[in-house]
Amino acid sequence: MSDNLCPPLFGPAFDADPYPAYAWLRDNAPVTRVPLPGCQAWLVTRYEDAVVTLTHPSLAKDPAAGSPEWRAASLGLPLDHRPGLARHMLNADGADHSRLRRLVGSAFTPRRMAGLRERAQEVTDDLLDRLDGPEADLIAGLAYPLPITIICDLLGVPEADRPTFHHHASVIDSSAASEVAQIAEATDALEKFLAGLVALKRTHPGDDLLTDLVRRSAQGEIDEDELTSTAFLLLIAGHETTVALIGNGLLALLRHPRQAAELRSDPARLPGFIDEMLRYDGPVRNATWRFPTEPVVIGGQEMLPGEPILVSLLSANRDPSAFPDPDAFSPGRTGGPHLAFGRGPHYCVGAALAQIEAEAAIGSVLRRFPELSLAVDPADLTWWPSAIMRGMFSLPVRLYG
Ligand code: HEM
Repeated sequence: MSDNLCPPLFGPAFDADPYPAYAWLRDNAPVTRVPLPGCQAWLVTRYEDAVVTLTHPSLAKDPAAGSPEWRAASLGLPLDHRPGLARHMLNADGADHSRLRRLVGSAFTPRRMAGLRERAQEVTDDLLDRLDGPEADLIAGLAYPLPITIICDLLGVPEADRPTFHHHASVIDSSAASEVAQIAEATDALEKFLAGLVALKRTHPGDDLLTDLVRRSAQGEIDEDELTSTAFLLLIAGHETTVALIGNGLLALLRHPRQAAELRSDPARLPGFIDEMLRYDGPVRNATWRFPTEPVVIGGQEMLPGEPILVSLLSANRDPSAFPDPDAFSPGRTGGPHLAFGRGPHYCVGAALAQIEAEAAIGSVLRRFPELSLAVDPADLTWWPSAIMRGMFSLPVRLYG
């Protein structure tokens, strides 16, 4: 391949290993236009430009700030335009954003987080007990069910309703690669389900985050659409991301036996290892849409009001100007910090919870299966065809020798 040609930015080869294409873009077209169905978007790939974009005061998150072309193109997607699902903090700016974020942030109390740590360990132990080896898929057996169970606990979804909730969530997940019509149907059903859950919390309050938010709504701090939208955001933002952190993180260990042995001999290093897993092969490919509210210049490119912008977090996290020898998996490295949880006002609210779940899952797998190895050639792993997320459909392993 000529040095002057960018490797493809779509398709299975890119999904399996997007890093060579990102390296090319950082060197040759660090802020570039990419074609999307129905419109074009800016793609930002260097670390420094990514930080500028994620923290820029003249870039809005509200979809209403998007250009007419972007709005027309994205109207096909059911998620961005329904008041009952879209009026959450990731689509809000300024005072509305701060209010919604504060409400959720204050519901992540130290007591609730301590309870979730205990619960994440209990759920992990139970899931690992059920693996009956000698081979297993650690996505279906652990990485997928753990986060959805924790989110159901957090939102206070009654046990009897969990299968329905799981079903709708799995259709919407990009890991399921569902059809648009199916997604629209599941989104309808989930919107109704969440409205019903909010009503239930009014009559039967529980010790959960949604009950806290319902109480705040009685004081006029959050309205009905914002309540269901926030529950929806927590489900979407907190589920697949964590599935991918556990899956991609375990894969990094399986492909780096020397580092895995170091971790086994010093388990206290687990948080640092998870930090490097987030940098090396993080769950979020691109941050969510941003739109200039006035002309802005980023990386030497002028962007006009409404033009949609994506920031490649995967690319920024492999930028050699921020991380020496960026393609090496090197826990405890200097440089960064990584951008896997974003940066600035929309920095991930659930970062601490994700860390708790990953520590329970990855720590327990290492402890319980000292001979763990990959059961397939890495080239045979299949990756989600998602524009936003990076994760695998399955992770087949041999549990014993
Ligand atoms: C490894 C797991 C996770 C990763 C990599 C991740 C990543 C991110 C990123 C990159 C953003 C910023 C997006 C942007 O600026 O466009 C974000 C925002 C957010 N995340 Fe996470 N996330 C994870 C887990 C979670 C969990 C477990 C929850 C909650 C249960 C959560 C809730 C949120 C929320 C509510 C926001 C919006 C914050 C705002 O708009 O102010 N995330 N996350």
